[in-house]
Amino acid sequence: MNFWDKFEKGFTCLAPMEGVTDIAFRQVVAKAARPDIFFTEFTNVNSYSSEKGRPNALERLRYEPDERPIVAQIWGKNPEMFAETVAAVRDLGYEAVDINMGCPDRHVVATGGGSGLIRTPEAAAKILRAAKSVDGITVSVKTRLGYTKIDEWKSWLGMLLGERPAALTVHLRTKKEMSKVDAHYELIPEIVALKNEVSPKTKLIINGDLKSAADAQKIVEQGADGIMIGRGVFQNPFCFEREPREHTQAELLDLMRYHLDLYEKYGLQPYDPLKHFYKIYINNFPGASDLRAELMLTKSIAEARAIIDKL
Ligand SMILES: Cc1cc2nc3c(=O)[nH]c(=O)nc-3n(C[C@H](O)[C@H](O)[C@H](O)COP(=O)(O)O)c2cc1C
Repeated sequence: MNFWDKFEKGFTCLAPMEGVTDIAFRQVVAKAARPDIFFTEFTNVNSYSSEKGRPNALERLRYEPDERPIVAQIWGKNPEMFAETVAAVRDLGYEAVDINMGCPDRHVVATGGGSGLIRTPEAAAKILRAAKSVDGITVSVKTRLGYTKIDEWKSWLGMLLGERPAALTVHLRTKKEMSKVDAHYELIPEIVALKNEVSPKTKLIINGDLKSAADAQKIVEQGADGIMIGRGVFQNPFCFEREPREHTQAELLDLMRYHLDLYEKYGLQPYDPLKHFYKIYINNFPGASDLRAELMLTKSIAEARAIIDKL
């Protein structure tokens, strides 16, 4: 049984998000409301393959056993480095690895990786084959509809499906669209039909602007297998609840405390990026914006803790 066969239709995934879904934040989400599957931030295969970059790559791939089921996401351009990194990911105990073929970041695209691969489908196929040549781990792909034009999806997704990935996550926008327009939900039935024709066993995961686990139902009704939520977790860290309920300010503050503790426990550095998360927890109550402004001036976890402990 491959990794993706374990989940029932309507499964939910926390999206891979660079600088966000690290070992600390994933556990915050797990405490709030667990998705069925976690994804790590992406790790560069060049980084793992070089002696200098390896410690950083291993740091990014760190996870706790109770975060399982978890998928390691990787990106790059060189097939040999993919094979090496996929084997390493497997040896770290991951059952599944995902290849990023959708990142629009210009630095990533300049290397030919991420969404750059949409313009070089042969290179993408070679990478997928190299990753799949490694035994003992399940390989999936996350991508967009195309690079410039929406109708690229037929040939691009058709090519990927022809390589039979175990799962395919489609962010329903092109690279050019970034996240500036609405996701193209109207295409789901056609993408499902293509998948069923070319690679019926591949699990199809839909991504883009979804807000809660309840959204899985309407996606499944259209024939897809699961959903992936990224930014929705910033608006509501409890978004993976199957039966949504109201949450108190005290619950949000507890989550923030938990996040601070974990950031410290794992020795994550530097402090400032942690501040980006504070708006998740300090929100929607009288005085929240003043409190956030005060927290923005803090220089350490201890200072932030002292401020919220006064509440
Ligand atoms: C801060 C941030 C970092 C991201 N990093 C990654 C990444 O490492 N790998 C990836 O495949 N997608 C990455 N993405 C894209 C998301 O996984 C997701 O495809 C996108 O945000 C659309 O889904 P959403 O509307 O649910 O957020 C990132 C998105 C954001 C906002």
